[in-house]
Amino acid sequence: MQSLTLLANRSVADGLHELSFNKPTDWSFQAGQFARLGMAFSEEEPIFRAYSVASAPESDTLRFLVKNVTGGQLSPRLCALRPGDRISLDGPADGNLLASRVPGGHTLWLMATGSGLAPFLAMLESADTLREWSEIVTVIGCRTREEAEGLRRLTLDRSSRPVTLLTATTRETSALTGRLPDLLQSGELERAAGKTLNADTSRLLLCGNPGFTQSVRTLLKARGMVSPRFGKPGQILVEALW
Ligand SMILES: Cc1cc2nc3c(=O)[nH]c(=O)nc-3n(C[C@H](O)[C@H](O)[C@H](O)COP(=O)(O)OP(=O)(O)OC[C@H]3O[C@@H](n4cnc5c(N)ncnc54)[C@H](O)[C@@H]3O)c2cc1C
Ligand SMILES: NC(=O)c1ccc[n+]([C@@H]2O[C@H](COP(=O)([O-])OP(=O)(O)OC[C@H]3O[C@@H](n4cnc5c(N)ncnc54)[C@H](OP(=O)(O)O)[C@@H]3O)[C@@H](O)[C@H]2O)c1
Repeated sequence: MQSLTLLANRSVADGLHELSFNKPTDWSFQAGQFARLGMAFSEEEPIFRAYSVASAPESDTLRFLVKNVTGGQLSPRLCALRPGDRISLDGPADGNLLASRVPGGHTLWLMATGSGLAPFLAMLESADTLREWSEIVTVIGCRTREEAEGLRRLTLDRSSRPVTLLTATTRETSALTGRLPDLLQSGELERAAGKTLNADTSRLLLCGNPGFTQSVRTLLKARGMVSPRFGKPGQILVEALW
């Protein structure tokens, strides 16, 4: 078990925080992996949850993008942390949302809802992780325009290379309005990106709401795009946040 000290707590949008910590020198990870963060409260067992690292592996800072889940046990407490506060980091980094597992194609699509953007921020900031792909399309689904704008700015600030960036909103209208699976099914998403998603040229990483990841996975299966399994290659990797 290690201890992390909060360096900064920045509001990206209402209920969405970017937390920056010192990075222990003996703790490493690959872009796309998650850490187990925890806090102990008086007379309670410490509570741990998984959080994808949102900073590049080569950065000295360990950043996370945390959604304040209303009524949640840990996330409201993480979002209320102040500089100097300490939390626990349990064990090594873990997770298989690694772009290297879906080689090939020339366009990599990174599709997220809400804080599911976190692992993609780590990949976009990293100088090496996405080198194989000549084009990167990032798609972010949010409830509100405020969150879409906050995540759009964060993505552009962090990316170390050019990226085609689309945001969609579900509870307010915007240039792209609707849930991502619906926008994919109607063709609106690909029209907005100016690119098609297909097994030959595209690879896709998904992270966020489990209903979203499941629906997109089902839609793309019909196009012959599947996850790698039992040594067989694939085009899609999925991480659901709950
Ligand atoms: C591999 C992995 C990586 C993760 N990475 C992140 C991350 O980078 N950022 C992050 O904020 N969360 C992330 N999570 C979710 C995180 O582990 C917690 O589940 C979340 O913070 C809620 O914890 P809690 O104790 O506050 O709520 P709990 O009391 O445990 O309530 C859980 C409920 O909160 C909702 N919920 C959980 N996570 C989210 C979320 N991210 N956005 C919206 N609603 C949610 C769901 O309805 C879920 O059933 C990740 C989960 C996994 C499995
Ligand atoms: N001030 C605060 O503390 C604050 C502020 C904002 C939010 N919150 C909390 O944050 C949590 C919600 O976080 P979130 O909005 O990032 O998560 P979310 O509810 O998973 O929604 C993220 C996006 O995914 C979409 N979505 C949901 N289910 C889907 C499905 N089955 N298929 C496809 N798309 C789907 C949503 O569309 P829909 O809109 O259609 O569901 C939304 O656009 C709640 O606990 C909320 O109370 C807190």
